[in-house]
Amino acid sequence: MTLAVTPPADSRLSAIAADLAAHGWSWQPNLLPDDLTAALRAELQALDARQDLEAAGIGREAAFQRDGSVRRTGIAWLDGSSPAQQAFLDWAEPIRQSLNRALMIGLFEFEACFAVYPEGGFYDRHLDSFEGARNRVMSLVVYLNEDWQDDQGGELVVWPERAGKADSPAARLLPLGGGAAFMLSETIPHAVEVTHARRYAIAAWWRVNPSGDRHVDPIS
Ligand code: OGA
Ligand code: MN
Repeated sequence: MTLAVTPPADSRLSAIAADLAAHGWSWQPNLLPDDLTAALRAELQALDARQDLEAAGIGREAAFQRDGSVRRTGIAWLDGSSPAQQAFLDWAEPIRQSLNRALMIGLFEFEACFAVYPEGGFYDRHLDSFEGARNRVMSLVVYLNEDWQDDQGGELVVWPERAGKADSPAARLLPLGGGAAFMLSETIPHAVEVTHARRYAIAAWWRVNPSGDRHVDPIS
């Protein structure tokens, strides 16, 4: 199977950059091409059926924990080893370049993982990166669901930049197939509401190049 990779149109790329500059997040319905969404969904459902997904943890290394009260997700890292995975990585690359040109943020390394939430799954409010740690700078979540209905829940809840716990969310986004959410990893709190159907996504992050720093920070 070959998948032709059509990068997002320039108008979409500039809308993403403008949203990120204005308020730190952007929701883009139907950003991923339908055939790529379908191919990635088929691959993730096959992994899911073979129970080839690991339990997701929270935080890195020593802080890594599996806490069912916060998150109950099956994940598998993308390594480009299938045509669909490679097409997804190829699709993401012009987005990286465009955001770097528009926002001068030096996005460098990309990591992505498939994520399945079972019915009843959720993810409490969190940041994807601690401010200043510079490990993850830009988050991208792409949804692979087919015909998601309003009453199936599983919304991505996004708060304004650096919002406090008492602040109202900026948006509640249904995980519609092909939709993509971009968030500044260090400053946009977000959560996943309880899902009432099996929920399929790719969660991905760009890091800045750590090699200018005093230490080497290999991908882990
Ligand atoms: C994450 C995350 C959001 C989503 O994996 O860190 O916030 O909508 N995912 O799946
Ligand atoms: Mn997150």
